Amino acid sequence: MARWVPFGGAVLVGALAALASALALPPLLAFAAGALVGLVGAAVLAREPAGPVPAAAQGAKATMPSTFGRALIEKLPTPLLVISRTGRVSYANPAAADALPRLEAGAHFAHLIRVPAFVEAVGATLADGEERRVRFSTRQDQERFLEARIGLLPPGDAFGPEAQGIVQIEDRTDQRRAEQLRSDFIANASHELRTPLASIIGYIETLQHHAREDPDARERFLAIMAREAGRMQRLVDDLMSLSRIEMTEHVRPAEEWSLTEIAAESAAALLPVARRQGVTLAIEVAAGGVRVRGDRDQLGQVFTNLIDNAMKYGGAGAVVRVVEAAPARAHPNRVGVTVEDSGPGIAREHIHRLTERFYRVSASSSRDKGGTGLGLAIVKHILNRHGGRLEIASEPGKGSAFTVWLPRSEGGEGAAAGDVPEG
Ligand SMILES: Nc1ncnc2c1ncn2[C@@H]1O[C@H](COP(=O)(O)OP(=O)(O)O)[C@@H](O)[C@H]1O
Ligand SMILES: [Mg+2]
Repeated sequence: MARWVPFGGAVLVGALAALASALALPPLLAFAAGALVGLVGAAVLAREPAGPVPAAAQGAKATMPSTFGRALIEKLPTPLLVISRTGRVSYANPAAADALPRLEAGAHFAHLIRVPAFVEAVGATLADGEERRVRFSTRQDQERFLEARIGLLPPGDAFGPEAQGIVQIEDRTDQRRAEQLRSDFIANASHELRTPLASIIGYIETLQHHAREDPDARERFLAIMAREAGRMQRLVDDLMSLSRIEMTEHVRPAEEWSLTEIAAESAAALLPVARRQGVTLAIEVAAGGVRVRGDRDQLGQVFTNLIDNAMKYGGAGAVVRVVEAAPARAHPNRVGVTVEDSGPGIAREHIHRLTERFYRVSASSSRDKGGTGLGLAIVKHILNRHGGRLEIASEPGKGSAFTVWLPRSEGGEGAAAGDVPEG
C-alpha cells in the first residue's frame, strides 16, 4: 500500500480513466495499464532508453520501478507496447517480447512489425491522436492474424509532458481459422447436397418430357433418382448427428458399459450387410470385460461407422475383424477395440486428415459406395466427448486398423487389471 502513496489516489484514478477512454481496453488491461502509467510517472515514460538493450523485458526493468502496476502488466498475456511520439518503444511487457522477436528497447516500432497497414496506423495515431484498430497478417514460421488497437495516452501529470502511443496486439489466428473452417464446411455441405439434387431435378424433367412414354427409361431413371435421394438423406442424417454430437460434446456421459459388448452388438447388426457385400465379418469380442463411461448409442455409432468403412473399402472377399486391442504404453489406463480390414489400405499422407469433415482419399470412390465423408468426423467428435482417441494404422496393399481407445471407468470391474506400467 505504501508504494501507492507517492503517486496519490487522484493520479491513479485519472490515469485509469484517461487510458480506458483513450483506448477501449478490456477492464483488467485498462486497470493494469492505468496503474502502470500512474505509478511509473512522467519522467520514466518520457525518457528514451540510451542505446539498445538485448531484451525488451530487461529494458523495461531498467526503466520501471518495482511496483504493483508493473507486476500486473507484466503478467498480462496480451502484448502491450508504449511508443514515444518519435516512434521509439519506451516500454514492452514480456508478452510483447515473446511475440515480437525483433523487439529491443528503444527500437522504432516500424522495425518490429514491418506491415504497411500497422506502421501507417500507428504513425497516424501518434500524429492525430485518433484511436485506431487495424487487422493484418504476419508470416514468420507460419501465418498469423493479428489485431492491433492503437491509442494515445494524453500528456499531463500522469503521463509526462508528451503524449505517448499505446499499442495492444491480439492474436486472432485461432478465431480466423475457426471462421474459415465453418465457411468451408457450409460450402462443402451445400455442394454435396446440390449435386444429387441437380441430378434428381434433371431426371424429373426428362420424365416429364421425352421419357414420358418409355417404360424402360422410366424404371432406370426412377432407380437413379431413388439412389440420389438416398444419398441426400444420408448426408442430412450425418449432418444432424454431427450437430447433435457437438451440442453434447461438453457433457460428460454418466452411464457405464462394457466397450467390447457395444462393439460386438454393432458388428452383429451389420452381419446381413456383410453377407450381401461378400465380406467376412469376424466378431472376436464378447460381452463383459472392462467398463467405460459412455453414451451407448454414440459408442455404437462409432463402431457402426468404422465397420461400415472397413466393409465398404475392403470390398468383396475382404476379411473384417473386430478385436480387443492389446494394452499399449501410449494409451495408459485405456481400453481399446480395433476394427481391422484386409482392404487396400490408406497412404500415409492421408491418415492424419481422415477425420476432417468431407475429407476422402477418393471422393468418387466414396460417393460410389454411398459415403458422405462425415463418418470419421462423427467418430472423432464422439470420442472427444468421451475423452477417447482414435488410432489409425494402415499399410497400403495390406489393410487398415482403426482402434478406439477409451478411459477405463474408475470404479469399473477389472479397472486395474492389465494396466500398462508407465515409463
Ligand atoms: N477401412 C478403410 N480403408 C480404406 N480407406 C478408408 C477406410 N476407412 C476410411 N477410409 C477413407 O477415409 C475417408 C473418410 O471416411 P469417412 O469419414 O467414413 O467418409 P466416407 O466413408 O463417407 O467417405 C473415406 O472416404 C476413405 O477414403
Ligand atoms: Mg464412412
